[in-house]
Amino acid sequence: MFNFRCIKKSLQYLKFLFFLLIENTFCLFSRPKKYYAGEIVLITGSANGIGRQVALKLAPLGVTLVLWDIDDEGNKETSRLAQQNGANRVFVYHCDCSNREDVYEQADKVKKEVGDVSILINNAGVVIGKRFLDSPDSLVDKTMAVNTMAHFWTYKAFVPAMIAANHGHLVSIASCAGLCGGSQIADYCASKFAAIGFAESIDMEMRTLKKTGVKTTIVCPFVINTGMFDGVKSKWPRVLPSLDPEYVAERIVSAVRQNQEILFIPRIIYVLYFLKCFLPVKAIVLLFDYFGVLDCMNTFKGRPKKE
Ligand SMILES: NC(=O)c1ccc[n+]([C@@H]2O[C@H](COP(=O)([O-])OP(=O)(O)OC[C@H]3O[C@@H](n4cnc5c(N)ncnc54)[C@H](O)[C@@H]3O)[C@@H](O)[C@H]2O)c1
Repeated sequence: MFNFRCIKKSLQYLKFLFFLLIENTFCLFSRPKKYYAGEIVLITGSANGIGRQVALKLAPLGVTLVLWDIDDEGNKETSRLAQQNGANRVFVYHCDCSNREDVYEQADKVKKEVGDVSILINNAGVVIGKRFLDSPDSLVDKTMAVNTMAHFWTYKAFVPAMIAANHGHLVSIASCAGLCGGSQIADYCASKFAAIGFAESIDMEMRTLKKTGVKTTIVCPFVINTGMFDGVKSKWPRVLPSLDPEYVAERIVSAVRQNQEILFIPRIIYVLYFLKCFLPVKAIVLLFDYFGVLDCMNTFKGRPKKE
């Protein structure tokens, strides 16, 4: 016996899902934009690359910037450039995000000296770039501590105030490597898969707690020209280009402004991810081989170590 009400409801859900898929992939309709003015934004890993570029994009928008990094020189320079770009309030802290005690200690300082963080951008990241069996245990631990565990501790430190105010935004700078495994990047992929799972889960918790004022944006970019993945080249740069850091930062700032939950850059990643969900593994391997993603880490050099 058919249950027509159930079928009708399912069709409505399917229609809604289809609509969301198309809307998210092609950004057909612009979402309402929120203002940054007055927000306290904390960026981890702000001394270089994407962290710095996001700070510079936010600088003229009336926010208070809190910059966390272990690279003090780089962070001072980000602060200087942000002030040059119009930021009035910039606070710089030395924080080793891989160390839970340091995260809690610096978070307490921020709460006392600056106030409650309302936009948290977990951006600090590290990569080894070796085959898993050649990766020293201490560096594997570091990858997980910086790329994943730091997100746990920063959420513990700053989310309670967001829940109390029912206002806030949690930004997880993950990676395409968190959507699909890759050779010579196992620990990094694992850390990014975990970061995505964590951010997605807390977003669900906020929804079930009816704290929908606390938003989440998960960012999954392909390779960006910051130095972190130096040497890695795209086989088809027109289809899968290495990204410009300033462009990525612009997309992140605009995604947060529009409360966009997931951001894949470039857009072709939406298509590849969609295909990965249902194509057989052999077909995916062929596809990735075609795009040169399978062995792109063979030429990895990474950021040169500072003397
Ligand atoms: N560069 C890429 O191709 C790429 C692609 C996708 C995702 N991502 C992600 O984007 C984020 C930013 O990457 P990026 O390209 O700007 O890298 P980057 O190396 O330029 O910057 C990373 C920053 O994190 C800081 N950092 C490292 N360990 C830290 C620690 N323990 N505590 C505090 N800060 C620490 C570094 O000092 C540096 O300033 C990372 O999470 C990275 O995984 C990068």
